[in-house]
Amino acid sequence: MKFHLVIASPSFDEGLAFFLDELGFTLERITPSENPSLAILTGFGISICLDKNAEIGPVVIRVSTEDPDLHGLEKTGPNGTKIIYDLNPDEKTYPMSEEPSIAISEGSSAHWTDGRAGMKYRNLLPQGNWNYIASQIKVPGSGPVPDWVHYHDAQFQIIYCYKGSAKLVYEDQGDPFIFNAGDCVLQPPYIRHQVLESYDGLEVIEIVTPANHSTFSDHTMNLPNDTHHPARYFEDQTFIWDKAANRQWHSLETANGSSHEIAKTGIEIASARNGDVQLLRPSRSGETLSDIIPSPQQVSSKFTLWFVLSGTAVCDRSSSGQQRIYENDAISALNTHEEGMDVVFRNPSSDFSLLEVRIPLKPPEN
Ligand SMILES: [Fe+2]
Repeated sequence: MKFHLVIASPSFDEGLAFFLDELGFTLERITPSENPSLAILTGFGISICLDKNAEIGPVVIRVSTEDPDLHGLEKTGPNGTKIIYDLNPDEKTYPMSEEPSIAISEGSSAHWTDGRAGMKYRNLLPQGNWNYIASQIKVPGSGPVPDWVHYHDAQFQIIYCYKGSAKLVYEDQGDPFIFNAGDCVLQPPYIRHQVLESYDGLEVIEIVTPANHSTFSDHTMNLPNDTHHPARYFEDQTFIWDKAANRQWHSLETANGSSHEIAKTGIEIASARNGDVQLLRPSRSGETLSDIIPSPQQVSSKFTLWFVLSGTAVCDRSSSGQQRIYENDAISALNTHEEGMDVVFRNPSSDFSLLEVRIPLKPPEN
């Protein structure tokens, strides 16, 4: 089936000349031969039905083009039909914020927006045109998710399961699996995937860069697919499903002699050092709980996000003082690599734990 865009052309011959001569369309069919009143024209990937008798007003057609000479140009046809040439959306560039920022997004005053299929989104970053997206996403209840096989052209993308669970399937990774609270996946660029079901009020934290990446449908692949190749490279990254159940904690000494506990996820290596995810919690010595002082590597990060998974602590920011933080709060440090950065989590409760997602200053050169 083919759709034609119907355009009214009361002055038929002039309308035809406009599309053929001025715009460069090709005539496919014209009828009747004597005193024609209908023509099918094609060009530039679209098909137009020029109709002398159509009772519709003039239309504005905004077309995207790669030709820089046409950008911004407007052409008006005899019936008021207007063509506006616009920049190809892929080539649109928006200036990205490079300003340093350390901000707290409080869970208690979170603003949720409606997404597709009943999903709710919360932006975890301060206002700004950042080259990163950090979201908390909720899918209420349990049931099938109206998703389809798709992929993204992002450079780094992780999803951490905060609450509930989901059934996911990924290209070359075998049967669908249950993604449980505390699990984290690295989605390498271009890996086909699909969310099949969600359970018990799924909540995930998703971090992705660059912000203007695209999502593509794959109508030809069904998942699970026949090949099983878990070690496959997508670009220079591999898929990884880091399970909370297998996580190992160990003590990390920091520069000033204090220590806290970290659990690594394997995402740093699997992502070819495009980013890293780890979990942090205080270490205990007797009755005393350590502060959490993020490692000095973060100073060279472009992006760090901490999400409070449980408990409470005091977030001490050199730039803007102390603030008590609670479960569901997110602390972001953006573009702080030049200023250096000083964020310390003091006086934690015994159940305090943080998700930490970090994106280094420069992508690796293999
Ligand atoms: Fe996706």
